[in-house]
Amino acid sequence: MSTPLYLVVLGKQGAGKGTQCDRLAVLYSIPHVSTGDMLRAAVKAETPLGHEVASILNAGALVSDELVIRLVEERFAAPDAAGGALLDGFPRNLAQAEALQVLLGENGVRLCINLDVPIELATARLSSRRVCENCGTIYRDTDPSALSGVCAKCGGHVVQRADDRPEAIRRRLETYERDTAPLLDFYRSRGILVTVNGDQTPDAVTADIESAIGARDLA
Ligand code: AP5
Ligand code: MG
Repeated sequence: MSTPLYLVVLGKQGAGKGTQCDRLAVLYSIPHVSTGDMLRAAVKAETPLGHEVASILNAGALVSDELVIRLVEERFAAPDAAGGALLDGFPRNLAQAEALQVLLGENGVRLCINLDVPIELATARLSSRRVCENCGTIYRDTDPSALSGVCAKCGGHVVQRADDRPEAIRRRLETYERDTAPLLDFYRSRGILVTVNGDQTPDAVTADIESAIGARDLA
């Protein structure tokens, strides 16, 4: 059996992690594991976990390391993650990165893809993002599905995320600089960091990521 393809996708909020991971999941036949999507699904389903984290998510703060590490560990136990996964939104700080090394082994993460965008662009994208509250498809406010409020994929309701309001956006981007940006050095020092310009069309970003994966013969 070939080595599992676990890829970490890093980048500021609004860098395009969700957008790219949806595409890469299809290209490489590995699941898109987004801790944010998992937490939002729990909020929507009104599970005990959802009740616990709803106000934290809406404020744009981070939930506890213990909780997300447990979520990811449970997700890795599912059969579809045996061949690898695209990690979107995890790890988000050094403690989570260390925990991931324990879960997957020292060389378990094959590549960390850093989607680089300036803060002004990240803020503008988040302000104009809309999402399907049923299937999670990501839209821009000018897309037909955002304008009509009806998801082209599933017919669900297209809405603005609660944490895409100005105060929560500001807080999330501050948290990125303080807690998540140090992970760039963490993965750089292990020789597995690649930075891709996120300020290009989605197709061009995907092509650059594919080249980086291909150049290392990972898939
Ligand atoms: P999460 O869901 O992970 O959100 P995030 O980190 O804030 O990242 P975003 O989803 O906002 O950005 P993205 O990079 O995915 O951008 P997207 O592709 O949508 O986390 C949410 C919350 O959950 C956290 O705040 C926290 O509370 C909690 N949480 C999650 N994980 C946690 C963890 N590990 N520990 C603790 N707490 C955790 O793109 C944005 C917009 O730009 C879209 O409209 C899109 O259409 C557009 N766009 C994308 N790419 C392009 C492009 N190339 N050109 C033009 N437009 C583009
Ligand atoms: Mg996302």
